[in-house]
Amino acid sequence: MDVFCRELPKVELHAHLNGSLSRSTMLQLRRLHADTGLVDRTNAFFDEFQIGAGDKRNLSDCFQVFGIAHSLTTTPEALKMATLLTLKEFQDDGCCYIELRSSPRNTPYMTQRQYVETLIKTMRENPNNLTILPQLILSINRSCPLSEGEETVNLAVEYYKNFPEILVGIDLSGNPTAGRFQDFVPALTRAKEAGLKITLHCGEICNPREISEMLKFKPDRIGHGVYIHPKFGGNEEIWNELRNSKIPVELCLTSNIRTKSIPDYNSHHFKEFYEAKVPITLGTDDKGVFATSLSQEYHICADTFQLQKRDLLDLAINASKYIFAEDAYEIINNKLQLFWNKNEKK
Ligand code: IMP
Ligand code: ZN
Repeated sequence: MDVFCRELPKVELHAHLNGSLSRSTMLQLRRLHADTGLVDRTNAFFDEFQIGAGDKRNLSDCFQVFGIAHSLTTTPEALKMATLLTLKEFQDDGCCYIELRSSPRNTPYMTQRQYVETLIKTMRENPNNLTILPQLILSINRSCPLSEGEETVNLAVEYYKNFPEILVGIDLSGNPTAGRFQDFVPALTRAKEAGLKITLHCGEICNPREISEMLKFKPDRIGHGVYIHPKFGGNEEIWNELRNSKIPVELCLTSNIRTKSIPDYNSHHFKEFYEAKVPITLGTDDKGVFATSLSQEYHICADTFQLQKRDLLDLAINASKYIFAEDAYEIINNKLQLFWNKNEKK
């Protein structure tokens, strides 16, 4: 199953750039930042960055670790390096398509605009001839001032006009206990009207009212959806709302367990969503922080919920229907069919 999960051509639809940095990537970034005083602390930094099994930190504590990665991606050069190394790691893990998301930040060495430009340029130019197809989602961080989110949408709308082949959507993420969804609706509506796809982190904490507002907004996808099903702190009303909406949900098993939203894999709402035929896709969320990979998520899912190879293939095929760059669907599907035919002959 290990080899099958790795070789299966997968699509990653829920990955945050700065949460995806591996130890090796962080070490290379450290070398690049060698003169900024971080040199001797990066190993300790990485131990703090990773949230493994048994870690005592709660959901809010988890949001503090991103500052560690952020301290290593403050220049366009470092951001480019972080992007290329991370894309390569997803490729090596058998991903053929990724929608990488990131919140453009102003740093002492880069404006939000330069942040966006760097990501688009890196993905377009593909200097390392990667075969994975990268697409970009710009994230609004709900714990930052509204003006920063508005600027992210301004930039997204502007760059989408020239680079729709790279920039595909907007995400709302960040600490779910901070900020109000309603405050971001005007900006998100502008993005939607401009043609960008929308994905919202939804139901990471128990807040049925916000979940309902989010579903009524009709995003193209949502992330996590933990507190929706009545068994998980949701209620019948929002659960039915989700089921009727047919909105695909990006499920991140290990992330939910490490942030203690779910006690263990066996109790994950994957089961309820899968059985109710809610459209789902598996994602890593932050593979660096949660020490996982997409093939590992497929493997864990198969082990926990007794899925066969054919079920995993169907999961991957379905995920490819929910991608934002709809044109890529045929290419991914052909790869999956080829892979399956070859596998059946083995
Ligand atoms: P970045 O956007 O590339 O800087 O990636 C890190 C950021 O992603 C964090 O600062 C959060 O805003 C966001 N993020 C990562 N994981 C989660 C999550 O599980 N829920 C909500 N936001 C998240
Ligand atoms: Zn996320």
